[in-house]
Amino acid sequence: MKLLKDKIASEGIVLSGQVLKVDSFLNHQVDPKLMQAIGREFTRRFSDEPITKVLTIESSGIGPGLMTALELDVPLIFARKQKSLTLRDDVFVEKVHSFTKQVTNEVTVSRRYIVPGDTVMIIDDFLAHGEAALGLARIVEQAGARVAGIGIVIEKAFQQGATRLQEAGYRVESLARIRSLEGSVVFEDEPADPSLTCRS
Ligand code: G4P
Repeated sequence: MKLLKDKIASEGIVLSGQVLKVDSFLNHQVDPKLMQAIGREFTRRFSDEPITKVLTIESSGIGPGLMTALELDVPLIFARKQKSLTLRDDVFVEKVHSFTKQVTNEVTVSRRYIVPGDTVMIIDDFLAHGEAALGLARIVEQAGARVAGIGIVIEKAFQQGATRLQEAGYRVESLARIRSLEGSVVFEDEPADPSLTCRS
C-alpha cells in the first residue's frame, strides 16, 4: 500500500535492527485519513469474505480496526489486556507473550460479542512473532466462530510471525512488509498496487 509505505519512509524512525518507531501516525499520534485508507484497503482485500465482526487488541490495533469495521459496517471488538472487572466465566481468556516487550498478558474478550456463526477478521498494527494474532485467533475459535483472515498494518517480514500464522492455516494480508531495519527501512518487493493503475 503505497500511501502507508511513503508514510513509513518519511516518518518512521529505526530504533534498532528490530524495532521501528511510528509514533507520529500509528502508535501514539494517529493519522485519521491514513487509518481510513487502511480500512478501505483491508475491506478491498477481504471483499470475498462475509465478515460479521472485526477483532483487534488494545491499544494500537483500535485505530485501523475501527476504520475497517466502519468500512465493512460491522462491529469492532478489541481484546483487553487489563483484567476485567466482570467474572472470569463471562470472558474468553488467552495468554499472549510479547517477545518484543518481554511481558505476558492475559487478553480477554467478552463471550457476548463473538458467537458461533460469526466470521471474524483480525486486525493488528504490527506483526512480529505472531503471538497476539495467534491469541486472538484462539479466542475466535473458542467462541465457535471462524477466522476469515488476519490483516496487518506493518509486517516485520524478517521475523517469524507471518510464517507461523500461515502454517497454522490463516490467510495473512499485510499492507507494508519490511524486509530489514538495518540502518534504514527496506521494504519487500510487492506486486503493483491495482488502486494506482492509470485509467484512460
Ligand atoms: P507479536 O504479537 O507479533 O508476537 O509481536 P510482539 O509480541 O513482539 O509485539 C508486542 C508489542 O510490541 C505490540 O504492541 C506490537 O505492536 C509492538 N511491536 C512489535 N514490534 C514493533 C516495532 O517494530 N515497532 C513498534 N512501534 N511496535 C512494535 P502492544 O504491546 O500490543 O502495544 P500497543 O498496541 O498498546 O501499542
